[in-house]
Amino acid sequence: MHLVPPTEPVVGRVVENTPCTRGKSASFVRHISIDVGGTALEGGFRAGQAFGVVPPGTDSKGRPAKVRLYSISAPSNGEDGAGKVLSTTCKRVLEEIDMKGTDPDHPDRELKHQLFTGSCSNYLCNLQEGDEVMVTGPAGKRFLLPEEPERHDYLLLATGTGIAPFRGMIKDLLEAPTPSKSDVHLVMGVPYTTDLLYDDFFRDLASSFPNFHYHTVVSREIQPDGEPGGYIHHYLDRQIHLHEDLLSRDRTLVYMCGLAGMQLGVFKMMAERGLGDAYLKVKPDYAEVAPAEWDSHSIRKYVRPTHRCMLEVY
Ligand code: A2P
Repeated sequence: MHLVPPTEPVVGRVVENTPCTRGKSASFVRHISIDVGGTALEGGFRAGQAFGVVPPGTDSKGRPAKVRLYSISAPSNGEDGAGKVLSTTCKRVLEEIDMKGTDPDHPDRELKHQLFTGSCSNYLCNLQEGDEVMVTGPAGKRFLLPEEPERHDYLLLATGTGIAPFRGMIKDLLEAPTPSKSDVHLVMGVPYTTDLLYDDFFRDLASSFPNFHYHTVVSREIQPDGEPGGYIHHYLDRQIHLHEDLLSRDRTLVYMCGLAGMQLGVFKMMAERGLGDAYLKVKPDYAEVAPAEWDSHSIRKYVRPTHRCMLEVY
């Protein structure tokens, strides 16, 4: 970790910046590849870690902009196979916000509704091929594939850009000289079908590798079978016949990356189905509370992931 510390960023160069949504989507998500060859980051990152970006300029208080972390979506040997090119999956942050209650000195404070454009995500998404960008990292030591990947099967759960680390990990597993024989189930949750990220890539992999299974969960559309849209835990629960066996094996690891709400939903589902023991540990103070009553505040305090459950939720 921290081969390049936040105080001494190095210069990377953008080599690719392309949309990664499926067709026309209301959200803008881009796959951005950065050449870090010749810096301390070259060959020094792994799928599942993050790297830092230092945007140019200053913050609203005139201080130098701080480093922001982005999940690496490249495999551990980089997009180029030689560890020189890392990548990320970046969504433009566009929100309508109420300026009241923000910084009292903000010039737009009296305006009620304003478009807020996340400064670093839009800076990154605007970069052109050849542009320089200041980078740091890597960061993260737990959300990684295990040392002996073949000894495990995997349930990988992502919402939105939470897919980034899984793209890299799945490439590590399946695009290796000897592709993994482990069972890998990827479940991807998005609002609309057009928001599916790297969809063609995962579909192609699923048709090439019988041990790779790609599941999509669309929250705001009626499903092809007439069922309403839902979240990842609804899908896992509905399709429990597909996942019960996987979750019951003592070699399975579960990874979740994306919205924090997913952790609550999935933990409740596992506990209610009697499948949670390997993946979550309930503190004694909370043992009497039925899983149906768990809430996001309490699970952070009383329900901890075990060594077989990796979380990257925000
Ligand atoms: P929705 O927004 O319809 O409530 P994105 O990051 O692109 O917005 O996608 C996040 C996806 O995760 C959306 O489909 C969103 O649904 C869904 N989502 C929201 N809350 C939860 C939750 N508690 N558990 C699982 N998925 C969730």
